[in-house]
Amino acid sequence: MDSSSLRIYRVIGAVQNVIANAKTLDEALQEGLKTIVENAGADGGAIWYADTSDENRLRPFFWIGPVDLTRRSHLPGDGSVGRVYESQTAERLLEFDALKDVETAIDFTGLPVSSMVCVPFSNANANLGVIQFVNGPDSEPFDDEGADVMEIMAMMAAMAIEENEALAEPWQPGEVIMQLRDITREFKNGDIVTKVLKGVNLDVYEGEFLVLLGESGCGKSTLLNIVGGMDSATSGEFSYLNQDLSNATQAELTEFRRDNVGFIFQSYNLMPNLTALQNLKLIAELVDDPMDADEALELVGLADRKRNYPSQMSGGQQQRVSIARALVKNPKVILADEPTAALDYATSIEVLQVMEEVVKGGTTMVMVTHNEEITRMADRVVRMRDGRMHEVTINRHPAHAVDLVW
Ligand SMILES: Nc1ncnc2c1ncn2[C@@H]1O[C@H](COP(=O)(O)OP(=O)(O)O)[C@@H](O)[C@H]1O
Ligand SMILES: [Mg+2]
Repeated sequence: MDSSSLRIYRVIGAVQNVIANAKTLDEALQEGLKTIVENAGADGGAIWYADTSDENRLRPFFWIGPVDLTRRSHLPGDGSVGRVYESQTAERLLEFDALKDVETAIDFTGLPVSSMVCVPFSNANANLGVIQFVNGPDSEPFDDEGADVMEIMAMMAAMAIEENEALAEPWQPGEVIMQLRDITREFKNGDIVTKVLKGVNLDVYEGEFLVLLGESGCGKSTLLNIVGGMDSATSGEFSYLNQDLSNATQAELTEFRRDNVGFIFQSYNLMPNLTALQNLKLIAELVDDPMDADEALELVGLADRKRNYPSQMSGGQQQRVSIARALVKNPKVILADEPTAALDYATSIEVLQVMEEVVKGGTTMVMVTHNEEITRMADRVVRMRDGRMHEVTINRHPAHAVDLVW
């Protein structure tokens, strides 16, 4: 056996393994794609499912790549993905063709497309969707062997689908409330320039629970600070609703932040010499249309603690006060940076339950964490790597905070 077929068998083994261990079809497809991209060497990829409630329009629910595909879709027959769905025949667009296929080339705008492999997947009852791979290792086009690997892998993932298992409808995005385009952030220290964000393209949707995950130092807090108007990007565009804040002045950013955004940090940052209620009232006075401070404390389950000072409360209670303090502004968006990092498991769950309620009430939540388990609660999970978006998952079945275990 030559070394390339050995490699193929190794990857096949790895894919079989993750598929066998997956608990749901979604997980099988997701883990399969991840394994293929990592081991067989593609730049990125996406899983598109046919939305039966909308003419089998193909929508992505998981992808690897630095772009936000959340609102992208193809009708059957439209572009490579749509064609492959319609014909139920795998398609390869090697180097030359892919560039000519405008429809597909714009799928991965953050990732210049040099080649692509699309494979359909189905169960006994229906054609379910398409798995798409983009570019071979180092962004080079796939060669025929690479394309073979992608096709075999995708067929294996597709075969793992149980006869009667269907894809559930995933969460659907609401209106875009925040838009980030090609956001970069550099820090200069003397002659040394550190590039922390290297081109982030992300939309935030109204009412969603978005979790940003990634290793320490990958730029999560930097990104959250830009979204919250606490910091400005070095380049790129940032807008909130219809307001372009890309070149906003400090005063404009302060106003944006004050009127629209609530913050929750790992450290609670409460004023030590004020009671819980006074901490809230201090903030309520700054905004036009605050929520009643007593009501906010009630929402986080601390009505009976309103006269307590921070030092008289546990860490979890203080964090709930800080959630109430964010809520009292009646913000459209709450940004939370590692809100449970300083809390033990039981207390974290209490705090996350409150956050779940807040989202249910209509507030958009963007939460940074490095706790993988918390991603199960999210509508969408964005994994960052080295200053870019690396992977996005749209959850079909978000879990409740009480069901999380770590
Ligand atoms: N003000 C700053 N000056 C210089 N470097 C910074 C500054 N803020 C953040 N960084 C650097 O940017 C990188 C990403 O930081 P951060 O966004 O806090 O990461 P994360 O929240 O993902 O752990 C780190 O290497 C950090 O040292
Ligand atoms: Mg951080």
